[in-house]
Amino acid sequence: MSATPENDASQITITSLREMKAEGRPIVMVTAYDTPSARLADEAGVDSILVGDSLGMTVLGHDSTLPVTMDDMLRHTSAVVRGTKHALVVADMPFMSFQVSVEEALRNAGRFLAEAGASAVKIEGGRDVAPLAERLTTVGIPVMGHVGLTPQSVHQLGGYSVQAKETAAAVALMEDCRALQDAGAFSVVLECIPAELAQIVSAELSIPTIGIGAGGGCDGQVQVFHDLLGLGEFTPRHAKRYAEVGDAIRGAIASYTAEVRQHTFPGKDHGSSMDPETLSEVEGLGSGSRDVTGAGEMAQE
Ligand code: KIV
Repeated sequence: MSATPENDASQITITSLREMKAEGRPIVMVTAYDTPSARLADEAGVDSILVGDSLGMTVLGHDSTLPVTMDDMLRHTSAVVRGTKHALVVADMPFMSFQVSVEEALRNAGRFLAEAGASAVKIEGGRDVAPLAERLTTVGIPVMGHVGLTPQSVHQLGGYSVQAKETAAAVALMEDCRALQDAGAFSVVLECIPAELAQIVSAELSIPTIGIGAGGGCDGQVQVFHDLLGLGEFTPRHAKRYAEVGDAIRGAIASYTAEVRQHTFPGKDHGSSMDPETLSEVEGLGSGSRDVTGAGEMAQE
């Protein structure tokens, strides 16, 4: 039987996140989009993994999150779940998967739990999506809200800029967060808002806030995997590169390329060879005499 929140104390749940806020312990979330990256993040000890629709840009090569589909998200969420043992996996509901009708949103959200194995979904929006958040939580689907810079509304917002810098917008954002909390959301992402506002919102809400570009006063932080590791084409201002994995990968593949071109890879340790008797039987099969065994001295298996 696979581990469930009831029988595995190391499994992070939405209750764990609530407890972490109550105890003042920062919540660590990172995005991941496939099994190996999820496994690495889980082994590193993050509390939660977000299968973000940032997938569209980081992995699928789009220039926004808008083209990301339910099929994309389900496939990548399943892959992340397969690589995760402890962290809470949250799946991002992609553009137009929850905006058309509550029924369609419920069906789509349910697929993330039933088919892909996620533990919760994230939806962008505030008061506008609070009734949906309430329906989802009522049927047992935990909801993470997302306010501030909501990338699915990039055209409505006019770009990827810091939000809620003026009083009216700050008041509206606070109202959005209260509505999500009242609707039963277990947490809310605050993206690209002033640090002071994020701190005030975090103190006001009883549910944990998870910030990205929202300062250190949030209850937790979320970052995009590729931004942390130097895998993206550029690093946003709110991100810190903890490693230059892109350079390491480029260097390794350049070495492989050079070795193939110099005939130094594969070597005798990277393949298998025939016993001499079989070899003498098959030697006549080829018309040429090209040595395919790697410097002609492969180890016998
Ligand atoms: O899609 C995503 O990665 C996100 C985070 C940036 C919060 O929504």
